[in-house]
Amino acid sequence: MSQQRSHRVAVVGGGVVGLSVAWRAASSGSRVRLVDPAVGSGASWVAGGMLAPIAEAWPGEEELLTLGADSLARWPAFAEDLAADSGRPSGLRRDGTLVVGVDSADRAELTRLEEHLSSVGRTVTRHPGRELRRLEPALGPAVRAGLEVPGDLAVDNRVTLAALRDACRARGVEFVAESARAVSPGTVELNEGSLTCDVAVIACGAHSGSLHPKLDGRLRPVKGEILRLRHRGSALPPPRRTIRGPVHGRQVYLVPRDDGIVVGATQYEVGFDTDVTAGGVRDLLADAEQLVPGLSEYAVDEVTAGLRPGTDDNLPIVETLEPGVVATTGHHRNGYLLAPLTAETAVELLQDGGRT
Ligand code: GLY
Repeated sequence: MSQQRSHRVAVVGGGVVGLSVAWRAASSGSRVRLVDPAVGSGASWVAGGMLAPIAEAWPGEEELLTLGADSLARWPAFAEDLAADSGRPSGLRRDGTLVVGVDSADRAELTRLEEHLSSVGRTVTRHPGRELRRLEPALGPAVRAGLEVPGDLAVDNRVTLAALRDACRARGVEFVAESARAVSPGTVELNEGSLTCDVAVIACGAHSGSLHPKLDGRLRPVKGEILRLRHRGSALPPPRRTIRGPVHGRQVYLVPRDDGIVVGATQYEVGFDTDVTAGGVRDLLADAEQLVPGLSEYAVDEVTAGLRPGTDDNLPIVETLEPGVVATTGHHRNGYLLAPLTAETAVELLQDGGRT
């Protein structure tokens, strides 16, 4: 009888996707090393943490909606396992999402979203402003209409990252605090030296393109700026649900945290630039205040920017690039949302050693 040997897997990249793949691969019996000089410090650290395939649906992106909905359905079990393995909260919040609008053009956009969702068999409930304020008293008088999407959830990204890191440790993942330069079958080239493995998984987000020739040109950085606002004693508490704009045609979202709210996010295609611009902060603050006026009393704890890994079709790249090299990257706006499904798919690809 042949003896089954556990795969030696090297996951390159320690964001939400890399950590999830490493954790699930280690849980399924692989010996896993995770290569990253600063685990959890990239786009995953900046993220708002929306798990919102319905609220962020877009005509022409039906495949992404299906993937997102499939992954969202996996989140409760993923979160439960994460809490059990890490001994920490998973960060999952189950309060739902409202997509709201301010002017008549915003309301027309809500109608387009509603019609699109209905055309793909997904219904949402439309409410006037008064009913929205009954659901979320923090919403201001400028909010005129909105859609209730109770199934779209959120995570506190930093709580989730801490849990993933500890769950990886609990499952024996070895952390290698190095930068990778290139990945080929059996080898991850590091800035100094290399490490060997049976299968390498590239999960480096916007930086993945330089690691393997088959990813070259398939990823581009899409910068997003966010604000982290902290509730202060005298101010109105934040909404419980995630609130998504349009506000006078501009997209904004507010994702609650235990101590305040994350306001996001701008979108710019300006290469690997993570400067936060004055105009970006001005627009985010102005739009957030239209939706929740009480935010003007909050403390500004942080302004920061991250780089989403964009692809041409906005779909992630989760595939075997060549025998022994798997890619799990290109999750664009949806790293947290798609992490459970991506990790599951990656474990399947790893099961035959990344051969197919
Ligand atoms: N998922 C929201 C964003 O990327 O800004």
